[in-house]
Amino acid sequence: MTPLDALPIEELRQRSSTKWRRYDADVLPLFVAETDFALAPAITRALVRAVERGDTGYTPPEPGIREAFVGFAQRRFGWDVDPARVRWTCDVMMAVVELLRAVTSPGDRVVITPPVYPPFFDTALETGAEIERVPLLHDADGWRLDLPGIEAALSGGARTVLLCNPHNPTGTVHSRESLAQLAEIAARYDATVISDEIHAPLVQPGVEFTPFLAASDTAAAVGYAVTSASKAFNTAGLKCAQIVTADERTAAVVRAIPEEVEWRTGLLGAMAAVASFDPTSDEWLDSLLARLDENRHLLADLLAEHVPGARYEIPDAGFLAWIDLNALGWSEDPAAIILREARVAVNVGPSFGDEGEGHIRINFGCSPEVLREAIERIGAVVRARASVSG
Ligand SMILES: Cc1ncc(COP(=O)(O)O)c(C=O)c1O
Repeated sequence: MTPLDALPIEELRQRSSTKWRRYDADVLPLFVAETDFALAPAITRALVRAVERGDTGYTPPEPGIREAFVGFAQRRFGWDVDPARVRWTCDVMMAVVELLRAVTSPGDRVVITPPVYPPFFDTALETGAEIERVPLLHDADGWRLDLPGIEAALSGGARTVLLCNPHNPTGTVHSRESLAQLAEIAARYDATVISDEIHAPLVQPGVEFTPFLAASDTAAAVGYAVTSASKAFNTAGLKCAQIVTADERTAAVVRAIPEEVEWRTGLLGAMAAVASFDPTSDEWLDSLLARLDENRHLLADLLAEHVPGARYEIPDAGFLAWIDLNALGWSEDPAAIILREARVAVNVGPSFGDEGEGHIRINFGCSPEVLREAIERIGAVVRARASVSG
């Protein structure tokens, strides 16, 4: 499969999204999870057609998302989804908010597993829930869920686990076994698992992705999945996400969420979702994955050459790299130094939880040239600082 080419940087700089407008033009933006590719052709066609017709009203009751998602889940993950158990709203975090509202009461504790996508913290708080942190465990085999820690939290009264599968920022794809065990633990304490699977379309070939609801019968009974085409297909601004259930009881909970939540879905987002999930977009997705595969390995080589001491484990999914820079011994947050002195914008490690101290998150959903330039710039700062302190 030929790796997808990114757009030229001059063209990208004409974009008006936050990736391109948040910082000055001399900054290379490798922070927020937007990617630097042209849209999949089926999405462009659907959006152009809609804009030409002025077809920009409200999303209809049946925009085609059910059938499109069911087909995608079957083709890409071997997952059988009941079309009647797919609902939609404007974005994944809104889906999480509404599910938390439905399954918790104010003051209930929600387990999250840092380092994790920063809005998980605020989103839980937005619903009146409290947060119980059970950090991921890390050893020579990589990152994994702390299942005994989650069990202790649930036995102590926490009501829900907000899972990130695959995990942002580490790119970890949780094993079927660990997900099935998580489901057993949740069932034991009558708790719920909300599984954010927005990065699932970006699992690399050869890595087995298990949708939480497909991990076991128990998982199907205790879980809710939230997902979107928007990360893989770079359509976050269009506002469309899915909520999926696999059991009559959980489906009834989702059906009871007010219809207003569905009305918030962007019509262009719904069209883009249908086009993304269509089989005609599979080839584009495969070539994106080929590009990300090259970049995730290129990043390892570049770090070894320019940032000795950086610790980076090649992610199994996605386009986000979690990099430990503690060995540099910098006394200030590395993301701040890198922005100021290298003019590269990366995500601040501690925003993913205290575990992120001394870390940065880099978005490698870009061209190899941009990635190389960014790491060379960071390397120059590392060398300059080492020569001053040495
Ligand atoms: C794990 C995870 N969940 C949710 C989101 C945001 O999704 P949305 O824009 O649909 O709320 C992101 C964005 O990067 C993410 O990484």
